[in-house]
Amino acid sequence: MKHIHSYYSPNDLYNKIIDGLNNIGKELSKVTLDDLHPVDEFHIRGSVATQELIKLAEFTPDMHILDVGCGVGGSTRRLSHETGCLVTGIDLSDEYIDAAERLTQLLNMQERVKFHACSATALPYDDNTFDGVWSIQMNMNVEDKLLWLQEVYRVLKPGCRAILYEVCGHKNTPVHFPVPWAQDGSMSFLVPPEAFRDVIKAAGFDITVWNDKTDLAQKAFANMSEPKGEPQLPELGVHMLVGHDILTKAYNLRRNLDEERVSLIETVAVKPD
Ligand SMILES: C[S@@+](CC[C@H](N)C(=O)[O-])C[C@H]1O[C@@H](n2cnc3c(N)ncnc32)[C@H](O)[C@@H]1O
Repeated sequence: MKHIHSYYSPNDLYNKIIDGLNNIGKELSKVTLDDLHPVDEFHIRGSVATQELIKLAEFTPDMHILDVGCGVGGSTRRLSHETGCLVTGIDLSDEYIDAAERLTQLLNMQERVKFHACSATALPYDDNTFDGVWSIQMNMNVEDKLLWLQEVYRVLKPGCRAILYEVCGHKNTPVHFPVPWAQDGSMSFLVPPEAFRDVIKAAGFDITVWNDKTDLAQKAFANMSEPKGEPQLPELGVHMLVGHDILTKAYNLRRNLDEERVSLIETVAVKPD
């Protein structure tokens, strides 16, 4: 798990994001959620997907939601902003959690959005704590998926739901590396959708929604061509999170989607009453 942690640990991330905001002429006291989304929603189809997940989740303002593998907290903040929920985000990366907390303060959202650095496979919460869980594109880095889902199940209250939006394997192997979540195969643990479904059920959940979003992922990456020469990167972008080879990673993701090596699943899993 150490190499996964260091993959997601850029130095001085918060200040780099602030420099990026300054360089595009944003006044820090006026920064909005939308200004940050090029860097803080690190998943396929970004803020569009987050809005779809918010609709799907039907979380209400009285709820306390856990965001497992929250990154720098873009979707954590968006979820709280749109629904009024109290949201706690956890992530393996201390550097991401530090940036997540400071960006949340910059937006003055710290009353309703909290963060904690820990692993999804050892959640530091009591049984039956949360009214909902969501987890966005983290499972790829988790080898023991049953342990992760058992932890999610344990901390959820009975009758409550987990929203999962996850990259899975597909019919073909191997995956072309590097990809946005992994430099090589030692950090990537993809299972095909059917195996993902089985492990969700094995953790005790009932699956009430199962949407294959692979075609939408393919459309989103259809224009990614093989990068040549020095990459032209924006002032704010996910290269700040996982390195300057992001265009190669995005291109490989496109190939993996087109060649049926990777799929994208959105699902709702309910802990029975
Ligand atoms: C592709 S990013 C997605 C981040 C965030 N959900 C988002 O959509 O912006 C994957 C995230 O999973 C986190 N992660 C990987 N393995 C983890 C684990 N075992 N426990 C908690 N977080 C983990 C990484 O640190 C990273 O922030």
